[in-house]
Amino acid sequence: KILILDFGSQYTQLIARCVRELNVYCEIQPCTKPVAYDASLKGIILSGSPFSVNDPAAPKPDIHEMAQKVPVLAVCYGAQLLAQQTGGEVGKSAHREYGRAHLKGIIANALMKGVSDGSQVWMSHSDSIKRLADGFEIIATTDSIPVAAFRSKEAYAPNPVYAIQFHPEVTHSLDGRKMLLNFLTDICGCAQDWTPAAFVAETVAQLKEQIGDQKVVMALSGGVDSTVAAMLINKAIGDRLYCIFVDNGLLRKDEFTQVLDGYKTLGLNVKGVDASHTFYKEMEGVSDPEQKRKIIGRLFIDVFVEEARLLDGVSFLGQGTIYPDVIESMSVHGPSQTIKSHHNVGGLPEKMHMKLVEPLRALFKDEVRRIGTEMGIAPIFIGRHPFPGPGLGIRVLGAVSEEKVKMLQEADAIYINLLREKGLYDQVWQAGAMLLPVQSVGVMGDERTYEYTVALRAVTSVDGMTADWAQLPYDFLAQVSNDIINRVRGVNRVVYDISSKPPATIEWE
Ligand code: XMP
Repeated sequence: KILILDFGSQYTQLIARCVRELNVYCEIQPCTKPVAYDASLKGIILSGSPFSVNDPAAPKPDIHEMAQKVPVLAVCYGAQLLAQQTGGEVGKSAHREYGRAHLKGIIANALMKGVSDGSQVWMSHSDSIKRLADGFEIIATTDSIPVAAFRSKEAYAPNPVYAIQFHPEVTHSLDGRKMLLNFLTDICGCAQDWTPAAFVAETVAQLKEQIGDQKVVMALSGGVDSTVAAMLINKAIGDRLYCIFVDNGLLRKDEFTQVLDGYKTLGLNVKGVDASHTFYKEMEGVSDPEQKRKIIGRLFIDVFVEEARLLDGVSFLGQGTIYPDVIESMSVHGPSQTIKSHHNVGGLPEKMHMKLVEPLRALFKDEVRRIGTEMGIAPIFIGRHPFPGPGLGIRVLGAVSEEKVKMLQEADAIYINLLREKGLYDQVWQAGAMLLPVQSVGVMGDERTYEYTVALRAVTSVDGMTADWAQLPYDFLAQVSNDIINRVRGVNRVVYDISSKPPATIEWE
């Protein structure tokens, strides 16, 4: 495996994804945590950082020590740290360098095998390397900086260290992948054998080992993560995995039965529990979004724990945790400010006093999809838009009632079905309708109406952290609006949300 030491760059995850797309397994860990050297570790990549190496608070792990054990690729901040630690000089650039640059004067080297002068790379730095110590040589420059890339000479350490000022992980560095591949295969000697099929085989074997002849209980949500996690566990232990799918009354129209049937077709041992009336009752009159989330989260845990109690001798709790959740909680900058309390079922493990089984802990979302496809899970599960845990509970703005949920379910179904019908569903990252707590005047036939407003939202995004509103065709929006107003009683106005995130968020609550 490859270890990526995170110095806090916004691109760290991107490095990890590139490495994995090259079918080499890697992990990210904070730069402040000591590196564990074992036989599986083949190389280390140092990320960029918002810090300057001249900042007294900047993190400075010893690169020389790493190169005693494995080859190192130092990117951006990593490169500057190496220059500084070995007696070179790093200082503020006369002008900052952001964006496009072209490599020049490349001397033959293993990292840049197959890369020629003129290759476009992407820069993002305000400090630059002014001078290198003896024992290092420049392997490429650009028009604006003398040291765009350098490497250690043999005397420095048993393993080579390559250092580059640009970011190979962004798509604008056109030969970036080639250089990463050269590092992984030629320099570190990694085999490109981390494929979806290998992951499934390896994970199923590990799960068999971990679980033995015990039983596992798991909550399913209809989403891709919990479905793929359950399929892996099911493949390892069969019907000793008990799945529970709770209807909180806040799912999409007909979703409970459709998804339940889908799970059965996949061969999962699943029980559907209709608890919708408990949810409606407890949410009555509550309009604060965070309080709604808390109630929905708490009730979900109560229902699940109650159901799990009915099962005998279960000692493991299965969860669909994925890698971004894991790295988020160990960021070098500490936990970021809570905008919304998303992880509403986070309390489950503590409450259950069970050992956790999390087969997707090491995967990114797109990798989960690839694994799911490898396991033969239908596109209807794999390609589903993300849907928030509290469901329509946070899309009926303000106080939630069964009547309002039903109204929103109808409007949402018209919208989503039309997106599918017109081939637009897969072009947006997430879409949904909101029921606003606003009534306005309209006219239908010769009659005055005073009814609710539905807001449509559709966004493009990669990870939900940032998003832009999707530019859906006007004739499509016209048809959705028409259908909703004509068919959903109680709604006389439809609006389309044209806000990006930030400053707005994807959900309205
Ligand atoms: P926001 O609204 O924060 O949403 O831009 C980003 C993504 O997170 C989803 N979301 C939630 N998911 N529980 C969840 O499981 C929540 O409370 C929650 N709130 C928002 C949202 O649908 C989008 O995909």
